[in-house]
Amino acid sequence: MMFLDPRTATKLNRAIFNAIVAPRPIGWISSQSPEGHVNLAPFSHFNIVSTAPPVILFSCNTPGDRTEKDTLANVRATGEFVFNLATFDLREAVNATSTPAPPEVDEFLIAKLEKAACVNVKPPRVAASPANLECRLLRIVEIEPEQPGDTSSNVVFGRVIGLHIRDEYLTAAGRFDTIKAHPLTRLGGIQYAPPGDIFEMPAPFRRVGE
Ligand SMILES: Cc1cc2nc3c(=O)[nH]c(=O)nc-3n(C[C@H](O)[C@H](O)[C@H](O)COP(=O)(O)O)c2cc1C
Repeated sequence: MMFLDPRTATKLNRAIFNAIVAPRPIGWISSQSPEGHVNLAPFSHFNIVSTAPPVILFSCNTPGDRTEKDTLANVRATGEFVFNLATFDLREAVNATSTPAPPEVDEFLIAKLEKAACVNVKPPRVAASPANLECRLLRIVEIEPEQPGDTSSNVVFGRVIGLHIRDEYLTAAGRFDTIKAHPLTRLGGIQYAPPGDIFEMPAPFRRVGE
């Protein structure tokens, strides 16, 4: 059994964390600058952190040799963004939109993705995605570098203020059909995984009201 202290382990490959905390859902985030430049990029440091109220977060790093990524700059300036569900069918497009393109370049065009309008926020959503969540910025929390080689990250919390679900992904019972949507998840390095076998396991307790 190996034990590593990340503060002192000189040969620690930082990607090891991504391989251990996996599979991770991918937040495919569309945003727009105040001037109207549209941006789209994937973030696997992403999750839902509350369902009522619905809140999601993603973490955007800023390597020392880069200025703030367009997504973070847009969200800071406008307070709005959209989560688009990344799926196995859209995997090439998801990857293509991670290109570090200049702010005025629209990654929807790079990945040949059709846009659809949102209801409560200005950024467009990915039309081909089975579900999209319109979000309003709640707060940004900075994770500061602690030692040489560390990267600053900003965790962006968004309150979901609108849901779009394509009809074909709604079940007869009115639920979202995750299996049909075939979400893409990220492992370590360049590894990705579609969902594996599904099984059901009832909770060992009843929630109030059930
Ligand atoms: C699947 C995938 C997941 C990624 N996850 C993150 C992440 O969690 N945080 C991050 O800062 N960058 C992440 N990236 C890299 C960004 O997508 C990339 O830096 C992108 O150019 C940022 O776009 P922007 O500058 O237009 O905002 C990821 C890339 C891929 C392909």
